[in-house]
Amino acid sequence: MTPRSFLLTPQLAEYVRASSEPYDEVVLDLMTETAELAARGEASPTFQIAPEQGSFMQLLAGALGVRQAIEIGTFTGYSALCVARALPDGGRLVCLDRNGEWTAIARRYWERAGVGDRVELLLGDAHETLRGLPADPTFDLAFVDADKTGYADYVEQLYPRMAANGVVLLDNTLRNGEVLDPRDDDARSVAELNRALAADPRWETVLLPLADGLTVLRKR
Ligand SMILES: C[S@@+](CC[C@H](N)C(=O)[O-])C[C@H]1O[C@@H](n2cnc3c(N)ncnc32)[C@H](O)[C@@H]1O
Repeated sequence: MTPRSFLLTPQLAEYVRASSEPYDEVVLDLMTETAELAARGEASPTFQIAPEQGSFMQLLAGALGVRQAIEIGTFTGYSALCVARALPDGGRLVCLDRNGEWTAIARRYWERAGVGDRVELLLGDAHETLRGLPADPTFDLAFVDADKTGYADYVEQLYPRMAANGVVLLDNTLRNGEVLDPRDDDARSVAELNRALAADPRWETVLLPLADGLTVLRKR
């Protein structure tokens, strides 16, 4: 069982995956262990990003030549693994999360993939952790996948910390389609932020219908 976009039938999701580079054993084992966690009711089955999104993020980070990256919302480490694998020697990924048990699983898989030394995990409330980070070095890539009502604060805090042309990725910006008719605080916050970002001259903005919606922001 892997997370699937609400935009795809199960058959199309399979086709999308079969038409992209195959996942290695580390990724497959991480997906299995995370699915088992969800099956035991110890985590949401929708937390982990979809595999095609992970592959896309890895390709993007590599193509952009990202050296300094930050992730907000790490869970068991799949999205971080994808970005870390794209970093060159000396590259760094800072991961923010508040859950020590889930990120201990992440740490195991990063070590197994040989990228553990590139990842710095900072545990605690991500809003506070981010506030405490120095302005330098700036980040080339940021991925936000934590509390949805907090996205606007993360985007504001990230702006001065991003390099010129730096890219911020925001996950779940379609909220399973609920942005059209928001019924809870998460969907309302995301819909409001989507509206604000489309009109914000500081960012070039594209909302991609990938997985559950992935917004790409480029700092102008
Ligand atoms: C959707 S999961 C992240 C999934 C991950 N990107 C992946 O690919 O597996 C959200 C994560 O955000 C973390 N989180 C939520 N709110 C947070 C906060 N205010 N501070 C720190 N971490 C938070 C949760 O502990 C959880 O691990």
